[in-house]
Amino acid sequence: MLLNAHAVALCLAASLSAVSGQTFQRLGTCPDLGCVIPPDQQDFLPGQEFDIRFEIHAPKNGSEAFNNGVPDDKFSATIAKDGGKARSIAEFFKLSEPALEKWTFSWFEDLFARDAKTPSVVNVASKAYRRVALYAPGTYTVTLSYYSGKTTTAEWTVRPLATKKKAKNVIFFIGDGMTTNMITAARLLAHKTVNGRYQSHLALDDFPVVGHQMTHSIDSFITDSANSATALYSGHKSSVNALGVYADSSPDPLDDPKFETIVELLHRIWGSAWGAVSTAFIADATPAALTAHSRLRSTYGVLVDQALNGVQNYSWTGTGGPDVYFGTGAEQFLAGPGSYQGKDYYAEFAKKGYSVSLNKTSLAAAPNDKRALGIFCKSNLPVWLDRNVFTDNMASAKNDPSGADGPAKDLPGLKDMTLKAIDVLHKRGGKNGFFLMSEAASIDKQMHALDYDRALGDLLELDDTVRATMKKLEELGILDDTLVVVSADHGHGFDVFGSSDTKYFAAQTDDRAKREAIGVYQNSGLSQYTTPKPGVSYGTGANFPLNWDPRYVIAGGQGANPDHREQYGVGHKPREPAKVGANGEAYVNNEDRPNGFVVNGTLPTGDTQGVHSLTDVPVYARGPCQEAFGGTYSNIDVFFKMAGCLGLGWGKNVTEGAGGADGPGCHPKRATVELP
Ligand SMILES: *[C@@H]1O[C@H](CO)[C@@H](O)[C@H](O)[C@H]1NC(C)=O
Ligand SMILES: *[C@@H]1O[C@H](CO)[C@@H](O)[C@H](O)[C@H]1NC(C)=O
Ligand SMILES: *[C@@H]1O[C@H](CO)[C@@H](O)[C@H](O)[C@H]1NC(C)=O
Ligand SMILES: *[C@@H]1O[C@H](CO)[C@@H](O)[C@H](O)[C@H]1NC(C)=O
Ligand SMILES: *[C@@H]1O[C@H](CO)[C@@H](O)[C@H](O)[C@H]1NC(C)=O
Ligand SMILES: [Zn+2]
Repeated sequence: MLLNAHAVALCLAASLSAVSGQTFQRLGTCPDLGCVIPPDQQDFLPGQEFDIRFEIHAPKNGSEAFNNGVPDDKFSATIAKDGGKARSIAEFFKLSEPALEKWTFSWFEDLFARDAKTPSVVNVASKAYRRVALYAPGTYTVTLSYYSGKTTTAEWTVRPLATKKKAKNVIFFIGDGMTTNMITAARLLAHKTVNGRYQSHLALDDFPVVGHQMTHSIDSFITDSANSATALYSGHKSSVNALGVYADSSPDPLDDPKFETIVELLHRIWGSAWGAVSTAFIADATPAALTAHSRLRSTYGVLVDQALNGVQNYSWTGTGGPDVYFGTGAEQFLAGPGSYQGKDYYAEFAKKGYSVSLNKTSLAAAPNDKRALGIFCKSNLPVWLDRNVFTDNMASAKNDPSGADGPAKDLPGLKDMTLKAIDVLHKRGGKNGFFLMSEAASIDKQMHALDYDRALGDLLELDDTVRATMKKLEELGILDDTLVVVSADHGHGFDVFGSSDTKYFAAQTDDRAKREAIGVYQNSGLSQYTTPKPGVSYGTGANFPLNWDPRYVIAGGQGANPDHREQYGVGHKPREPAKVGANGEAYVNNEDRPNGFVVNGTLPTGDTQGVHSLTDVPVYARGPCQEAFGGTYSNIDVFFKMAGCLGLGWGKNVTEGAGGADGPGCHPKRATVELP
């Protein structure tokens, strides 16, 4: 019996993938005991800078236990282009051998090991080669040799060099968590139909080209906003929580192998201006990923410093700082525990020549020829619905961006921030053009809370901002020079399946009877959000609902939800995440939907919020290169399409790589400018 058990264990150890790659992973990109990072199947822009890391794992115990936990520190690695001669990494990139690093980490092989608190321990030997680039398009094979005879190979593809710069500017709107289903629901709320025909429509509906992007991570099929933004901005897929790096197994979240992002490339190659606008705290994943290089998205203070000063402790080019940085999250700017090294980042930005605005009036007055920082409150920007309809919810907030007690006043919205950003970037970019990322962050944040009305309000704010942006570009005479892309980073499993009669609903006391209020198919009727509410005017203009509180509301929901109470219809108070019950699980939110019926969720009982979903998300495009965005492709291709249109990449008249941005004897080649 014992012998048999032993044989089974050996067999398991031989097929490592049997234990790697599901709930928990030793290192997602490394199914073997030797890891090449960037891993197999990665694509690069010619001249895009990146770091290489090799790791040798020696599991001390667990099902993969090997070599008594002693990692091979005499490993070697080579690189060969298109099946040619293999040369050592140091020789190929003209670098000296980096120092050997060692560390230990542990992980759980599955949920049973987690419950039993028996982590598997792994000792590691590693080397990192910093800031290299491959200039010649083609296929490169990297071979890592270790444990006398074992090898791990990775194939990297350097895509062709763009020959023409076709867009002067790119504006990239991201509706965080936004799906086609949500766009359809938002249209229903804000636009009226007569006998089946819409009388007006979304700005997104006017885009000539729509495609689909696949959002999955490098090592999991559901992504978060960190690694999806990373893919969109750099062409490299990564792991959940990682920004601008491939995840390694070392304990330091800031030493993971980096790669260059679109704004770093733009700054280096064309000297363009760039900016980020978000309704989230600006250190949040989607805006931060433009300049961040961190394994952990939660290293917020560091991320703000990286945006301004670049990566400090490893050689890296950075961007010299954004030309526009508008968002919220005063916690990371006020001197104190939330900021990097406790410093006052309003002052740090001001020292580098930024105007600093803390409210809408001062934002409007900021000079267009100076770099501009705007931080308008603590935490996230209050959502459109609370800023415009349920304005009394704002009074009790303690989010003044100056650190004073009390609520932030005179808040701008996404449209105010985006239009001002365009003025500054247009002025500062001059003939070199600009790149702007503008994010509607709370579509996602409110979907997590299952607060669908607040999510859809922010989606309509995004659409209104896109509409105003088109008009602004036309006024500035740069509409035809500017590629506008509107997309998302991932979805939530939300859809609408009918309407709910709130009056009938409220009159029922039994949960099952309440469900009779829901009208499906022919009983769904038409949208009542587009008919003015008697005696009420929100003053929010066309393209937003005229009545947020009609008798017949949409009945919708998420495919992935925690236990919750469902009432349908707009909640005057924002919806809070579900709460932990007395028994440590079974969550139900009674406070914000007191009249609702209880829905058992589909997630682990410890989850208090909805989660992201698998769905592909839409990509809308208009302007130079718009036709490239049709079809279905990976999220990394959004980067390659935008980068190609901007003529990004450095080619060199050499057949192989060279260290640094300008290796000796090489003549950089870049695209020629061919604007419409
Ligand atoms: C591995 O060893 C550590 C102690 O070094 C122990 O805590 C852990 O439970 C062991 N794991 C397994 C899977 O045996
Ligand atoms: C950079 O290194 C210095 C000195 O070791 C350290 O104090 C600082 O925290 C590091 N900064 C980051 C962002 O890692
Ligand atoms: C807006 O900011 C300016 C400049 O800091 C300040 O003078 C003004 O009082 C602020 N307005 C409000 C409403 O807080
Ligand atoms: C939710 O699930 C629990 C446990 O299975 C069950 O006791 C309860 O009746 C369910 N509630 C509803 C409303 O379905
Ligand atoms: C590259 O170098 C070769 C040999 O020096 C030369 O003949 C060729 O014209 C160069 N090509 C370009 C595009 O500069
Ligand atoms: Zn999210």
